[in-house]
Amino acid sequence: MIEAEAAFATYPSLKGRTAFVSGGASGLGAEFVEQLARQGMAVGFVDVDETRGRALERRLADGGAAVRFVPCDVRDVPALQAAIAEVAGMLGTIRLLVNNAANDHRDRVSDMDVALWDDRIAVNVRHHFFAAQAVAPGMRDAGGGSIVNLGSISAHIDLMDLPGYITAKAGVEGLTRTLAREYGPWAVRVNCIIPGWIMTEKQLAEWVTPEAEASIARNQCVPQKLYPDDVARMLLWLAADDSRSCTAQQWVVDGGWL
Ligand SMILES: NC(=O)c1ccc[n+]([C@@H]2O[C@H](COP(=O)([O-])OP(=O)(O)OC[C@H]3O[C@@H](n4cnc5c(N)ncnc54)[C@H](O)[C@@H]3O)[C@@H](O)[C@H]2O)c1
Repeated sequence: MIEAEAAFATYPSLKGRTAFVSGGASGLGAEFVEQLARQGMAVGFVDVDETRGRALERRLADGGAAVRFVPCDVRDVPALQAAIAEVAGMLGTIRLLVNNAANDHRDRVSDMDVALWDDRIAVNVRHHFFAAQAVAPGMRDAGGGSIVNLGSISAHIDLMDLPGYITAKAGVEGLTRTLAREYGPWAVRVNCIIPGWIMTEKQLAEWVTPEAEASIARNQCVPQKLYPDDVARMLLWLAADDSRSCTAQQWVVDGGWL
């Protein structure tokens, strides 16, 4: 087991480039924002959680990072497009887009109506497309870029009460492939990270019961709990030129969930 942060890789190709992360105020997104800033990237991020977004922005800026938080609900596509334009105007052409914002609301199938269904799709897959559409021409003009979509293990295993979320996350995988094909000629790569069960603050507070811990121990090939930095290290590699020939793929970080 690797103990020290210093033992992990740094990626020279990331230094000085600009990243945009949706849902960057907490959970995996906050870890992504912080790790990308540590690599020397300028990072813009959006979230509905203004308090946490501002606090993270302040902490990173105090440490010398070029960082910009824009409060934004990704279900409001024109607002998301405006936030992307604001970040690009302030921090430079976006070379890395991380489509991370999501909400794993639990919904019973029998309670679903059209408005609820549309909401689950809007928060879990629609904004990925429109954010990619907004950044890709700039990436092309800059010589290329990387788009990373967050999928979910939930689209591959046996879970109840997540019909909208799971449908959207399965859609994220298809979206990844079609955008990779569309944008490949522009040297824009599009990949999907599929996290397993990651111990974010929210997961620990709401879902990780003793029974859940037993399920992790039973289902994962490697027994350790997975944390946001495990996923961030995959993101860094997909963001960097080290992965320049990899696109249209799914990258699973789940401890080998069988
Ligand atoms: N944590 C896990 O175990 C896990 C597993 C599989 C997939 N994922 C995926 O990884 C990504 C991050 O997951 P997480 O666990 O950190 O999620 P989270 O719920 O802890 O954080 C998501 C972030 O997105 C923000 N957000 C929610 N709705 C928004 C909206 N409408 N507009 C803007 N921001 C909004 C939240 O405020 C939050 O900061 C998601 O795409 C999730 O589906 C997570």
